[in-house]
Amino acid sequence: MKTISLFILAYLLGSIQSGVWIGKMFYHKDIREFGSGNTGTTNTFRVLGKRAGTAVLFMDILKGTVATCLPMWFGLSIDPLWFGVAAILGHTFPIFGHFKGGKAVATSAGMLLAYSPTFFIYSASLFVLFLFLTSTVSLSSMISAIIITISTILLPIYAPFILAEQNWLLTTLAVAITLFIIVRHKDNIKRIKSGTESKVNFGLRKTK
Ligand code: G3P
Repeated sequence: MKTISLFILAYLLGSIQSGVWIGKMFYHKDIREFGSGNTGTTNTFRVLGKRAGTAVLFMDILKGTVATCLPMWFGLSIDPLWFGVAAILGHTFPIFGHFKGGKAVATSAGMLLAYSPTFFIYSASLFVLFLFLTSTVSLSSMISAIIITISTILLPIYAPFILAEQNWLLTTLAVAITLFIIVRHKDNIKRIKSGTESKVNFGLRKTK
């Protein structure tokens, strides 16, 4: 019973639509009606600016982190990654938002933060590197997700100071989440192909 309750709690945490709520509360704007229409960090930066975007990034990461820590805090022996997955599902299919949510990137990062802070820093650095190289958040999200997945296999062998343990559940979930992230970015992929995807500079200021 405790396990099911905590799974539901993790899903509900993920369902908190920080971008939509912050937009409505402080800016009287529904970000779903502007920009890409997405509820996540990137569109919040795009529509509401740096301060709101940073808050949403922080909150969306935190949702994944808190959800993943739940089994540890409540003494459950189930692998915490499953609770991160519940938060990711909440984020993408939120009960508070007609099941239309974000693209799973920030909340997945939050799960990684709870799993291994060093692996999170490595993953975030990859994302920033690709953002710097491509100026495209969606492309950086997808490329980083693919490399992070491969890294779950290679780092424990070649750089265990970043990720010590070979964890096949982590790898399997990383494969599934990466595929999921790519599917969630299908509109972005179309825009990338047609050259109409929004670009940002390294400071995340819109340039196009
Ligand atoms: O995390 C979502 C991001 O990769 C793309 O967001 O608003 O540009 O579709 P957006």
